[in-house]
Amino acid sequence: MRKLVIKDLYVSINDIQILKGVNLEINNHEIHALMGPNGQGKSTLLSAIMGDPKYRIDSGEIWYDDKDVLSMSVDERSRAGIFLGMQYPSEIPGVNNSDFLRAAMNARLEKPISLFKFIREMEHAVDDLGMKSDIAHRNLNEGFSGGEKKRNEIIQMKLLKPQFAMLDEIDSGLDVDALKIVADAVQDLYDTQDLSLLIVSHYERFLDLTKPTHVHILLDGKIVESGDYELVSKIDNEGYEWLYTKYGVEKPSEKPALVLESCGANR
Ligand SMILES: Nc1ncnc2c1ncn2[C@@H]1O[C@H](COP(=O)(O)OP(=O)(O)O)[C@@H](O)[C@H]1O
Ligand SMILES: [Mg+2]
Repeated sequence: MRKLVIKDLYVSINDIQILKGVNLEINNHEIHALMGPNGQGKSTLLSAIMGDPKYRIDSGEIWYDDKDVLSMSVDERSRAGIFLGMQYPSEIPGVNNSDFLRAAMNARLEKPISLFKFIREMEHAVDDLGMKSDIAHRNLNEGFSGGEKKRNEIIQMKLLKPQFAMLDEIDSGLDVDALKIVADAVQDLYDTQDLSLLIVSHYERFLDLTKPTHVHILLDGKIVESGDYELVSKIDNEGYEWLYTKYGVEKPSEKPALVLESCGANR
């Protein structure tokens, strides 16, 4: 049975320890929500699972479908059915959106998809996500609005048909209508495909639509609370403040580490 297992995972970036012993199990066809204040390591965890080389794995294990994920390259992970819808999708000038998608699909198929079939699937996906048809012909994320970038990640997911998909704040930057469209698309994939999900979100509105079966809170690099949907409502009502006291973690300073003026001055 397809199952993701993370054991005592420690991850650092630029020699700063971010994840400090994450344990998590996601079974086939479960939806897990990952919540927690900003800067606690949620994106780090997702990127480490996908294999972003920026993140150093210090110790621990990640298994998916009984395969040792940490020994696999990013494209092997993708071919094994793992997908990441990113918090900040990159703009790739010069790379056409549909060329990119067709190449990504073909990399996972034994026989390349026919152009006719690809165009039909792409058109369906673009239509389902309520996007303009020219999105297929534009360069990947170049000049896309925040919401278009997020919806384009879901188009990728629809076409690549992963078995384990991670969505990192896919709801941020979406207006109410787009939020419903994205949630419906995710729900439809979950209902019709063999799919499990790990969804990072701060908002009850999105989680209410996607209905996680399990909810976790990540604080200071560890999953400190796990429960069911009740936990989403608690966070929505009470915020994250109580967590710092309960777990004796220092609240990060509200002040931004880098002010805009200093960026300008450093140029
Ligand atoms: N390139 C980097 N250099 C140093 N620290 C980083 C870098 N990228 C992320 N971090 C730090 O790692 C921590 C965790 O970040 P992240 O995983 O993005 O948190 P979250 O997704 O929970 O908001 C933050 O304190 C962030 O500032
Ligand atoms: Mg993040």
